[in-house]
Amino acid sequence: MKRTRIVDLFDGSRLDTEVCAKGWVRTRRGNKHVQFVALNDGSTIKNMQIVFDMAQFTDEQLKPITTGAAIEVTGLLVASAGKGQTVEIQARTLNVLGTADPEAYPLQKKGHTLEFLREKAHLRMRTNTFGAVFRVRSILAYAIHKFFNERGFFYLHTPLITESDCEGAGAMFQVTTLDLNNLPKTEEGAVDYNEDFFGKPTALTVSGQLEGELGATSLGAIYTFGPTFRAENSNTPRHLAEFWMIEPEVAFNDITDNMDLAEDFIKYCISYALENARDDIQFLNDMYDNELLTRLEGILKEPFVRLPYTEGVEILEKSGKKFEFPVYWGADLQSEHERYLVEEHFKRPVILTDYPKEIKAFYMKQNEDGKTVRAMDVLFPKIGEIIGGSEREESYDKLLQRIEELNIPMKDMWWYLDTRRFGTVPHSGFGLGFERLVLFVTGMTNIRDVIPFPRTPKNAEF
Ligand code: 4AD
Ligand code: MG
Repeated sequence: MKRTRIVDLFDGSRLDTEVCAKGWVRTRRGNKHVQFVALNDGSTIKNMQIVFDMAQFTDEQLKPITTGAAIEVTGLLVASAGKGQTVEIQARTLNVLGTADPEAYPLQKKGHTLEFLREKAHLRMRTNTFGAVFRVRSILAYAIHKFFNERGFFYLHTPLITESDCEGAGAMFQVTTLDLNNLPKTEEGAVDYNEDFFGKPTALTVSGQLEGELGATSLGAIYTFGPTFRAENSNTPRHLAEFWMIEPEVAFNDITDNMDLAEDFIKYCISYALENARDDIQFLNDMYDNELLTRLEGILKEPFVRLPYTEGVEILEKSGKKFEFPVYWGADLQSEHERYLVEEHFKRPVILTDYPKEIKAFYMKQNEDGKTVRAMDVLFPKIGEIIGGSEREESYDKLLQRIEELNIPMKDMWWYLDTRRFGTVPHSGFGLGFERLVLFVTGMTNIRDVIPFPRTPKNAEF
């Protein structure tokens, strides 16, 4: 008999018919007359209750039904009298697909901490919490493609292996096929990259933006959605060494268009998740953070604040609040500053613009004042910076000047500069950290809990 996913069994259309369900056992309880098994197949947060009439089954048959075991059941799907259940299956046949030794199965007991489950990343997706988180993650990924597709953006695949360092952060993972224990050397004693796979030093990308700009100035509007890699040693609840980023880039957009796009985009994703992952978000709301739903719905109601950096710094200076890191004009804002503006001062998301050029990347459009650039960071409650972006410097001369001031190796940049040599246009874009969005929508507080297999300093086991 063909299996039906548990989520579909709950839709009511198969009531009083014979069905087949397959999944993993969450719990078993009961007495010598009747046994109840909670079965989950990952398709929904809801478990299907399977009722075993012990007049028809033996203890021996049910013995392998322990937490974590995989089973296949057929039986009649009926309306349930039990509290909290809408339907249940009255088991007719049972087939044990895979046992899970209760002595050895790490998730035998309920109520493990998130920290404990992080050590069991290979199994944690079987818990209610991580099932919910990763379903929400998947639905958000779909919402992102849907949003851009509906607006005529093209999905551009930018390279993961690159010779250039887009953000200039200098924290890249090198990619090489050289034997580290036996490096080829030049006559001067340096590593001879001529012998390396690409004949040059290469690294994993920190951002697809520079290639994205090539796409935008050809196709008009593009977005990237892929993994990016940063070897910065920041062990915080908001940083990963491998994270996914969405980077739209649009020709002819100025910074205001860019802000409008960012705001529409984030609101669309949140609203899509609320509509399409309601059960999971409700579960996370009830289990971890009972302000989650209110917070998500609140974001949709009000426009984001738009504020120049200079005014933001004034507010922080006047706040009278004691921050761990000092705040002054020119300082790179820390998450405590960002969160003060968002959570305490304005009580809604803030788009901070026009940052000092010294603390932003070389490619941002310079303002007339000579001091600031047309940057925009979207700051969110609980998260801090969720999006970073800007209008781009489209003047060849100004861009070149900035590249020289910052001593960025010119020879690596010729192809990028060509966008400004041939038909240059105003254009803008931004990057959304996907895991930071998932953090916000699930109410989780550690970024390690919203990516299936987190890569952080000293951690790449699973
Ligand atoms: O602000 P960032 O560094 O901007 C860029 O990379 C630009 N090239 C984007 C663009 O304009 N196309 O990164 C963008 C976003 C941040 O706002 C943050 O949400 C996320 O990426 N992010 C990280 N997320 C997790 N772990 C890290 N180590 C992150 N670094 C940045
Ligand atoms: Mg940034």
